Amino acid sequence: MRKKIVAGNWKMNMTLDEGHALVAGVLKGLPELSNDKQVVFAPPFLNIQHTVYQVEDVQHVHVAAQNCHSEVSGAYTGEVSAKMIAACDATYVIIGHSERREYCHETDAMLAQKTDVALDNGLKVIFCCGESLEIRDAGTQNEFVEAQLKAGLFHLHKHQLANIVVAYEPIWAIGTGRTASSQQAQDMHAHIRSVFAAQYGQPTADSLTILYGGSCKPSNAAELFACPDVDGGLIGGASLKAEEFLGIIDAMVKA
Ligand code: 13P
Repeated sequence: MRKKIVAGNWKMNMTLDEGHALVAGVLKGLPELSNDKQVVFAPPFLNIQHTVYQVEDVQHVHVAAQNCHSEVSGAYTGEVSAKMIAACDATYVIIGHSERREYCHETDAMLAQKTDVALDNGLKVIFCCGESLEIRDAGTQNEFVEAQLKAGLFHLHKHQLANIVVAYEPIWAIGTGRTASSQQAQDMHAHIRSVFAAQYGQPTADSLTILYGGSCKPSNAAELFACPDVDGGLIGGASLKAEEFLGIIDAMVKA
């Protein structure tokens, strides 16, 4: 059975103290998580070590970085390597978020390299994909997302897919309040799964966790998570308030 995950991407929010209070609030209200369910916090780099200490005794709760560099080490002032993240005992790293693709000009080739360096250092990867409104309006979203996944992930061996989570985040739904309908999410998630099935076989595709991200909140999470191919969410804004994040976690637990 594939894992269900609710992950909170804090983006560039939360000081150390604010992050501490948020995690404490979520842990306080956390429902019991069965073995097939996980909650993930993705704080800024500066909070990672502290967040790891905060959750280390809590089962099925993990920490993710929001990015890593594509090189192993070296003269890259201001950057953070996958090895450093793994040394903090974080479990995941988010790679290919649309904000990094856009603002930091991250290319498919860089993302494939980041994926390799993350896996080589024992991290699991939450690999993001998703189309712009322009592409959605043109009706070519399936081809576009497929191309992103092929370029970023299809050089991997089948056994490595166990350490990959895919997050589908339509850019037009991120931070806009405009969620993809559950039908739109299900259609794309089913397409993504079929693309992996064609490359790696149905059993591998069936065990791949595919998250939805984009204006997911407590009021729409249950409907999204009820879709057969939606295995949880990558949450931005609503992960910054304990009560809202808990509402989404609750929807996963009940789905
Ligand atoms: P919002 O939930 O704020 O739309 O952000 C989604 C996202 O980008 C998570 O990575």
